[in-house]
Amino acid sequence: MPRILVPRIEETVVLVTGASGGIGRAIASAFAGAGARVFGTSRDPASVRDAPEGVEFLEWDAHKESSADACAASALERAGRVDILVCNAGMGIGGSIEDVPVADAIRQFDANVFGVLRMLRAVLPGMRQRYSGLVLVVGSAAGRIAVPFQGHYSASKFALEGLVESLRLELRPFGVRAALIEPGDTRTGFTDSRRSLPSSPAYAEAATRAIGVMEKDERSGADPAGVGALALRLARRRRLRVRYPIGPAFQLLALGLKRILPSRAFEAFLAVYYKVPRTGVRP
Ligand SMILES: NC(=O)c1ccc[n+]([C@@H]2O[C@H](COP(=O)([O-])OP(=O)(O)OC[C@H]3O[C@@H](n4cnc5c(N)ncnc54)[C@H](OP(=O)(O)O)[C@@H]3O)[C@@H](O)[C@H]2O)c1
Repeated sequence: MPRILVPRIEETVVLVTGASGGIGRAIASAFAGAGARVFGTSRDPASVRDAPEGVEFLEWDAHKESSADACAASALERAGRVDILVCNAGMGIGGSIEDVPVADAIRQFDANVFGVLRMLRAVLPGMRQRYSGLVLVVGSAAGRIAVPFQGHYSASKFALEGLVESLRLELRPFGVRAALIEPGDTRTGFTDSRRSLPSSPAYAEAATRAIGVMEKDERSGADPAGVGALALRLARRRRLRVRYPIGPAFQLLALGLKRILPSRAFEAFLAVYYKVPRTGVRP
């Protein structure tokens, strides 16, 4: 296994997807503040208001096949390399597994999973060639604990867990590090951007209640600056664990409880927390 090189932050080139707001913006600001050369992406760079100081914006749309290559090529042309890739961009839809049209579920996966894949395919060749690099993927606590009426979002974040576990093994011989950051509820534009799809009468009340709990938790969630500081700390470490949860204490506790409680006991706790009704309405 090659010796893992950890360049000084001031000497690194960082590419953060979805840096126009929320967690991505906080991560981009943290690296720029520490002296790195930082590129951030947005689907519409011209519309980014109050861009964090020192962050250069590039266009990238997770859904467009050629967009990742064009974005990575722009970063390479301007800075010569990408040392750290932070795959942060993502979105969420709400609705029951049964009600959400498959086309919307596919779009959810396309943004959160295949978008990451497209960016990895564009950036990894350079890292492998240099035997040096770091990939941080922003997963979610919902990628460890699936929540009701956000099943498609949860499944997309569970998929990232598998992707990164494989990626680490594949990149090991090249000295390229990879890890997941798993935020719990964080105060960002994510809540307002969530698209809740229409529910059938069987699920409507339960969906409204569960999504209401999530929205309340998100709006009173952690400051995204904490995730920025964590990403910066990880970039300075030679050896990384697979996953780094961060967020409100009760959510970190829930991750621990899931490990030790019998699965039905943990599920019963989730059902109470998300106000899942005891009996469904018969059609
Ligand atoms: N907020 C939370 O409670 C929370 C908890 C756990 C995990 N997360 C994860 O954290 C990440 C960042 O979310 P956030 O909370 O910071 O939300 P946010 O404020 O809504 O930011 C989302 C970012 O993703 C970009 N984006 C969205 N769809 C995109 C697409 N199709 N193609 C390219 N870029 C796209 C947006 O950029 P443009 O609109 O400028 O293109 C924006 O910069 C997501 O992966 C999310 O799943 C959030």
